[in-house]
Amino acid sequence: GSGAAVRSGRLGFSSVPVSTEDAVRVPEGYSAQLLIRWGDPIGHPEGQPAFRHDASNTADEQALQSGTHHDGMAFFPLPRAGMQGVAVRPAPGASSSHGLLATNHEYPDYGTLFGDHMAGWSLEKVRKAQHSLGISVVEVRGKGGVWKVVSPSAHARRIHAGTPMRIAGPAAGHPSMRTAASPDGRSARGTFANCANGWTPWGTFLSCEENFNYYFRGRAQPTPDEARYGLSARNDITRWARFDPRFDLELHPNAANHFGWVVEIDPYDPGSTPVKRTALGRKKQEGAAPAICRDGRVAFYMGDDQAFEYVYKFVTAKPWNPLDRAANRDLLDEGTLYAARFDADGGGRWLPLVHGSGGLVAANGFASQADVVVRARQAADLLGATPMDRPEWTSVDPVSGAVYVTLTGNATRGRAGQPGADAANPRAPNPHGHVLRWFEEDGDHAAGSFRWEVVSLGGARAQGAGGAEGRSMGGAAARPHAALPGRPLPAATPAATPAATPAARAWGDAYANPDGLTVDARGVVWILTDMPPTAAAEDRAAFGNNQLLAMDPLTGETRRFLTGPRGAEITGVCMTPDGRTMFVNVQHPGEADGAGVDPRDPRRVSNWPDFRPDGRPRSATLAVRRTDGGPIGA
Ligand code: FEO
Ligand code: CA
Ligand code: CA
Ligand code: CA
Repeated sequence: GSGAAVRSGRLGFSSVPVSTEDAVRVPEGYSAQLLIRWGDPIGHPEGQPAFRHDASNTADEQALQSGTHHDGMAFFPLPRAGMQGVAVRPAPGASSSHGLLATNHEYPDYGTLFGDHMAGWSLEKVRKAQHSLGISVVEVRGKGGVWKVVSPSAHARRIHAGTPMRIAGPAAGHPSMRTAASPDGRSARGTFANCANGWTPWGTFLSCEENFNYYFRGRAQPTPDEARYGLSARNDITRWARFDPRFDLELHPNAANHFGWVVEIDPYDPGSTPVKRTALGRKKQEGAAPAICRDGRVAFYMGDDQAFEYVYKFVTAKPWNPLDRAANRDLLDEGTLYAARFDADGGGRWLPLVHGSGGLVAANGFASQADVVVRARQAADLLGATPMDRPEWTSVDPVSGAVYVTLTGNATRGRAGQPGADAANPRAPNPHGHVLRWFEEDGDHAAGSFRWEVVSLGGARAQGAGGAEGRSMGGAAARPHAALPGRPLPAATPAATPAATPAARAWGDAYANPDGLTVDARGVVWILTDMPPTAAAEDRAAFGNNQLLAMDPLTGETRRFLTGPRGAEITGVCMTPDGRTMFVNVQHPGEADGAGVDPRDPRRVSNWPDFRPDGRPRSATLAVRRTDGGPIGA
């Protein structure tokens, strides 16, 4: 830290240097407090078993503790508060010192979850893995700048791979959803692979099921539809089917159709049944960022995180009712699902995935809307959606109405037999990813068309005339990353479109593999990175550990705000309504190429955050504050 930060536009902190330390670093004048680690008791009314550093907690204990591999997360104020704005957020005045944190837990790492990895693989071990995933709802309270878990709490809840759920929307009851355990196709058991998230204006949490295929033993000869979603015997990397036959697709071919959905959870009602909202389409679900349409209907922007998959939007059929929460209970079951086509001229179309239109008819394998939503990828193929470079998080700028999406990278673009570069995915291959945004036509989130632009290209040596214009902002390794020629980003209004404004150009601190993303109430774009351990040596040298950056869309300036421990992804960002606490997740510290997370591996690269010789690295939620209590980033 070098004293006073240079304030410009919306940013008022000094960027932190690139780091290879096994530590979290934040700017001068900020603190990052450890709040909830994997295995910490969450204040569950049925018990608060302490974490055992040798990983000897049982499956039953894990079901009362925080899950592992924290990902998308949202803060719900207590008491429950109204939501408002273009990009709906808790209304000003909602509590910023007391609330519920709903956190996704993405995947298990058997090297840390167990003391002896997969030795003696058993039903008990499968159950512990199943209980380590899903969602934690935790009551938290901040006092004098220090956040604590409220324990015990009537609100505390774990939802995991064994929790009973309801299936709703067009696929409910369809023959493809019927299984031995769910003969009517209207109930499901559990959720896992929970990645990015969303929320609704009526105060529910949307958890997104991403890489569900890795939890099933697929058939030796997968059908084309199974193959499209990555279901195969080869992809059974979690080995659940060995002791839990419902994950064996030879025995239960429809079982995987219960996963890949957006799951709606009411964090304010611990007795509520989570609901799989099939109207939003089945994919490797990434995010469901909400925005209010002009007529009060609600739009949700979603990604499908796999190379050459699509960006989606869902618009409810009816407006939401701000006066009657119960009236919104099943609003997500009716509406229109769209896939995005990004045209070379900077325009784009929302292609409706509606049975009976655009070739989505029985002759092409779509006999009903259930067929369309269960095989949303194939439906979007038929309509000509644009294959993207792994769409991750989405977020709507509450100030300008711009919708942002991170495209985390796609090293296979341009390979033989694969699509080459196009306007919206301008690099082949694209190992470093990019950030793209669009403005809906007339600023209405229900629109059928939009204008889009690339905001920034990841990578230390991003091509383009704009790159040389970056300037150092005080970080040791600040460097230009922006790549697009043009003037600074516009001060946009909800009705603005890029047609009326200059081309985007981000500059400042560089990064690779943008993944998490949120635009805060001030309009600052927070970008979180997940550069994989397999990244090239020059990228690892340039960017160090994964990080969180802030971009001011008015100036394009980007500053590095937080760096994580070794081998961790930084993800799951959310804020209190007053913008004065930022919760952020550290996922999979120690994950490394060739050198294990497994504490028995002498080459392990992280022992964060406990640093106990007998311990293990643990994913965790941080509460970031300004020591003077001011707004984060300002
Ligand atoms: Fe789980 Fe695509 O991140
Ligand atoms: Ca992600
Ligand atoms: Ca990722
Ligand atoms: Ca990751």
